[in-house]
Amino acid sequence: MFYNEDCIHGAKKYIADNSVDLIITDPPYGIKGDKLDKHYNRNESHVIDGYIDIPANEYETFSFDWIMEAERVLKPGGSMYIVSGYTNLRHILNALASTKLKEINHIIWKYNFGVYTKNKFISSHYHILLYVKEGAKATFNTHCRFADTEKDTNNGSLNYQDREDVWIINREYKPRKVKNKNELPSELLKKMVQYSSNENDLVCDFFLGSFSTAKIAIGLNRRACGFEKNAIAFNHQIEQIKSLKPGELLTTLRKVPDNELFAQNMPLSEEERTNIINTFIDLKSQGLTKKDALEEISKKCGRGYWSLLRIIEKAEKATSPTPSEFI
Ligand SMILES: C[S@@+](CC[C@H](N)C(=O)[O-])C[C@H]1O[C@@H](n2cnc3c(N)ncnc32)[C@H](O)[C@@H]1O
Repeated sequence: MFYNEDCIHGAKKYIADNSVDLIITDPPYGIKGDKLDKHYNRNESHVIDGYIDIPANEYETFSFDWIMEAERVLKPGGSMYIVSGYTNLRHILNALASTKLKEINHIIWKYNFGVYTKNKFISSHYHILLYVKEGAKATFNTHCRFADTEKDTNNGSLNYQDREDVWIINREYKPRKVKNKNELPSELLKKMVQYSSNENDLVCDFFLGSFSTAKIAIGLNRRACGFEKNAIAFNHQIEQIKSLKPGELLTTLRKVPDNELFAQNMPLSEEERTNIINTFIDLKSQGLTKKDALEEISKKCGRGYWSLLRIIEKAEKATSPTPSEFI
């Protein structure tokens, strides 16, 4: 459900405690957002009117109030991503620190529309804060976008790169299309939805704007809800959202090969440990490098490279001075 209301009052009225799986939200920045066109020197003729910002002197209390509600409605194990510029970031961090939510990541989103400045560095990043409510295991779909075995042309792991905490994602250029101020790119939203929720989960956005979070959530077959105080934006977007088919974006996701690390989180028996060590010694004696030997074992036993390396290094230490077969 979507509500044309202030999110703090609206959440209190309509959203039950511990009911939301994922919050993705992008609060107003407290930088006179209604004047952002001058700031960015851009043509705002296709931007929906009525954007509501928060006066700078109210930002601290405002952040505290909506973040308290967000904490209340999140399920134990639920995650929250907050997108923020740096001007009022401290208020958001302070409000988060006053909750029991646990900080998981402080992501830097680098974008491509930094405002040109001559006598200082050009600001071209936002902060994305990932917090979870403790009490249950948080959803984190490690292999939802890349398998461990997928490599780039330099043999770097695509899964590792996708999970680094600096995200380089460009804004979408939408000439002549009706849009909201500060519309978040679909790629950014897809990434958060894919990693931190599953189909049918409930995704909430306290500041819907163009309903970008809700559109991606529905497209990926999640349920969506949220608030937007600006009646002009709300009335426009609520019509758009009616034409979406749940799950229609699922076919646009890249197909991830089966994760070959099938045994990754399974307990390791003494027998398997001994097998790994013996196979390693055997492969080394056939002339394989340490790296190649570990990669070969990883394919066979379905365990990750780094956990195998730890097993070997522990065995090396236990038998030090290193016996010749480990070298
Ligand atoms: C930064 S924008 C969100 C942009 C959105 N993520 C998108 O991609 O379009 C913040 C939105 O919050 C709305 N807003 C401001 N105060 C609000 C409040 N108290 N409750 C709900 N919405 C509010 C603004 O009108 C604005 O549309």
